Amino acid sequence: MPLGSFPRSEGTVSSPIGGGASAVPVHVAVIMDGNGRWARARRLPVIAGHRQGAESVQKCVRTAIQQGVRYLTLYAFSSENWRRSTKEVGDLTSLLRFYLRHKINELHGQGVRLRVIGEPERFEGPLREELHRAETLTLHNTTLTLTLALSYGGRAEIVQAARRLAEDAVAGRITPDSITENTLHDALQTADMPDPDLVIRTSGECRLSNFLLWQSAYAELIFMDVLWPDFGESEFLDALSRFAGRQRRFGGRPA
Ligand code: IPE
Ligand code: IPE
Ligand code: MG
Repeated sequence: MPLGSFPRSEGTVSSPIGGGASAVPVHVAVIMDGNGRWARARRLPVIAGHRQGAESVQKCVRTAIQQGVRYLTLYAFSSENWRRSTKEVGDLTSLLRFYLRHKINELHGQGVRLRVIGEPERFEGPLREELHRAETLTLHNTTLTLTLALSYGGRAEIVQAARRLAEDAVAGRITPDSITENTLHDALQTADMPDPDLVIRTSGECRLSNFLLWQSAYAELIFMDVLWPDFGESEFLDALSRFAGRQRRFGGRPA
């Protein structure tokens, strides 16, 4: 993707200022939270919550496609989630592998291009192979870019980008004063996608938990009380309609 091919915030399919009832976000990012609480409330093991959460992912993908969303980025595992028990991390890893193996053909048939950001290399080999296979298979699909954030942390991503630019400067490929918001953007793992227009977090928590920190500078934030395993089409439509009612200004004044 050539340098700066996306404006920093692509906005919506209508004018970025003023929203309007029909405005569909180009890029929706979701912090899928609440699986543990969903399981606990049913006295089930936590993995049951993650399993039900995977069902919500499928509903979310379907609805995104139906509504014309072009990029869907899902926070599936944060850099900090390694602090969880070996059992939970192992169960989640197996679930992800199983899900990819059994659902990738369906996603491919829906025209989904699967991508990964974060540090997937920290996961065990079989999952890495499954991810690689899925990315290769769906590489040329264009209906929806589905990005999984795996072992992802916004701060780590910015540090990695800064390190790359520093290496370029030391090697004489760039000068420090040529570093701009655009060059930093292009050094991020998300360089080839527009910034999220809408960030949804479920489970009632009102924080970003290190998700897309740079990219969400002007995203609309929607926090919902529903736990992720209970998130379905109507919850997604509700978030989209709340988004459509928002007025985005990007620091300017509406016309
Ligand atoms: C989100 O659900 C999924 C991951 C972080 C992998 P949680 O497991 O954080 O659910 P709660 O917050 O404990 O309810
Ligand atoms: C954020 O949820 C990470 C994911 C949804 C993958 P967490 O449950 O890890 O966030 P905190 O710890 O409540 O902030
Ligand atoms: Mg949580």
